[in-house]
Amino acid sequence: MTSRKGACALSRIALPAVIVNFKAYTEVDGPSAISMAEACAAVAEETGVSIAVCPPIAELGSVARSVDVPVLSQHVEPRKPGSATGWVTPSMVKASGAVGSLVNHSEHRMILSDIREAVSMCRKSGLVSVVCTDSAPSSGAAAFFRPDFVAVEPPELIGGDISVTTASPEIVSDTVDIVRSVDKDVKVLCGAGVKTGEDVRTAIELGASGVLLASGVVKHKDPRAALLDLVSGI
Ligand code: G3P
Repeated sequence: MTSRKGACALSRIALPAVIVNFKAYTEVDGPSAISMAEACAAVAEETGVSIAVCPPIAELGSVARSVDVPVLSQHVEPRKPGSATGWVTPSMVKASGAVGSLVNHSEHRMILSDIREAVSMCRKSGLVSVVCTDSAPSSGAAAFFRPDFVAVEPPELIGGDISVTTASPEIVSDTVDIVRSVDKDVKVLCGAGVKTGEDVRTAIELGASGVLLASGVVKHKDPRAALLDLVSGI
């Protein structure tokens, strides 16, 4: 396999990785997004575990300027700079100091051609792309676009208390197999209901390179304690 242009971008997120998506929870509105990112950065520093954060887009630049951990946008569109009012372009994500973006999150679906183009534009901009999918077959399809990561998250488990690694471990292992058969350079993450170190350990045993999670940290009464438990699985 020849090396790809985005490989240097991927090297900015060490593996295995814990990616914390802040979503649009009120707990991370305004400056609270920085406090949450600082808690993640402190745990990363203390434990040596790779933790990346996805703050709300309105706080992307302020978070990226405040912490040393990799920062990703929650969304990006395949738009060029210029006449694109209200759209999130790869160019502005890059300029904010973020190192990459989620693409096609279950809560912000995109059409196939836009996913492909967003991944391609991220690669050209040196941004890491994390394409979210809902099943093993759709993960295989996404792998053809050569993102850095595919993150499989069954929508019905998102925000719940049962981890994908417990409810549907075969979705994770099947995704790993399918994605590997398409492009072995594409890394697999899993998410939905991931809340404990045991969930993270199982994800890695199933072949994932890490997890993408939200409520287990952002909605926890003690995000730092939640993170310390999560990273104990690595
Ligand atoms: O992007 C991560 C996400 O959709 C999973 O959410 O709350 O189940 O960890 P949660």
